[in-house]
Amino acid sequence: MSGVTGVVCAAVAGPADAAAPSHAFSDAEQQAVYRAIFERRDMRHFSGGAVADDVLQRLLSAAHHAPSVGFMQPWRFIRVRSRPLREGVHALIEQERVLTAQALGEREDEFMKLKVQGVLDAAEVLVVALPPGREQHVFGRRTLPEMDVASAACAIQNLWLAARAEGLGMGWVSIFDPQQLAALLQMPEGSKPIAVLCLGPVAAFYDQPMLQAEKWARRAPLADMVFEDHWGAPGEPGPEAG
Ligand SMILES: Cc1cc2nc3c(=O)[nH]c(=O)nc-3n(C[C@H](O)[C@H](O)[C@H](O)COP(=O)(O)O)c2cc1C
Repeated sequence: MSGVTGVVCAAVAGPADAAAPSHAFSDAEQQAVYRAIFERRDMRHFSGGAVADDVLQRLLSAAHHAPSVGFMQPWRFIRVRSRPLREGVHALIEQERVLTAQALGEREDEFMKLKVQGVLDAAEVLVVALPPGREQHVFGRRTLPEMDVASAACAIQNLWLAARAEGLGMGWVSIFDPQQLAALLQMPEGSKPIAVLCLGPVAAFYDQPMLQAEKWARRAPLADMVFEDHWGAPGEPGPEAG
C-alpha cells in the first residue's frame, strides 16, 4: 500500500469504535473496502492460469448487485471461451488501436508504445453489453439517457473491486468498434458492447496506474475536483488522495 493511501485509510478509520454509528462496518472491514478501492488497478499483464468457476460466479454476482437507474439492470455478460472468437476480439482491438493512435496526432508514437489490453493472455475475457429495448426505460433516463451506461459501469466496478479482493487482475478495454464486436458475438439489434474485460491471475499488481507510470497522465489533485456551492469555488475535500 502506498504511503498516501495509508494516510487516507487511517483517516477513514476514524475515532474509537465507541463513537462509530452502529451501522458502520468494523475497522477491519472498512480497511478492507478501502484497500480494494485503492489497490484496484487496470491490469494489462496476465500470467495465464484460470479463474475457478465458483470465483467467477461470485464476481458476476457482485456485478449483478450494482445500483442501476430505475433498477434497470442494463448489463449482459458474454464469456468468450472459444479461442477463435477471442482472437477475433483481439484483432478488432488491434485495428482500433491503430486508428486511435492516428487520431491522437502528435502523441501517436507514445500511444503505440503503451500496452492497452491483455486479451490473449488473460484467463477469462468477458464482454459487457447493454441490452436492446433500453428506450422503454424512462425512469431516470428521460433527460439523461446515458444513465444506462453509467449503471453498467457500476456493475463493472463492482466486478473489478471484487476481483481485486479475490487476488485477480482485471483490465477494461474500450478500444474497439462496438458494431463490429456486436456482429462478431451475434448480439441482437439495439444492444451495444461497452467493455471487453480481461480477467485473471497476475504476477503482481501495478503500484500506480500504468498510464501514470508511463507518464501518459497523472492523477489530478482532489482539491481541483471538489467545489463548494458554485463551480470553481474551492471546497473542503479533506485529506489529499495521491
Ligand atoms: C470506461 C473505461 C474504459 C477504459 N478503456 C481502456 C482501454 O481501452 N485500454 C486501456 O488500456 N485502459 C482502459 N481503461 C483503464 C484506464 O486506463 C485506467 O482505469 C486508468 O488509467 C487509471 O488506472 P487504474 O484503473 O489502474 O487506477 C479504461 C477505464 C475505464 C473506466
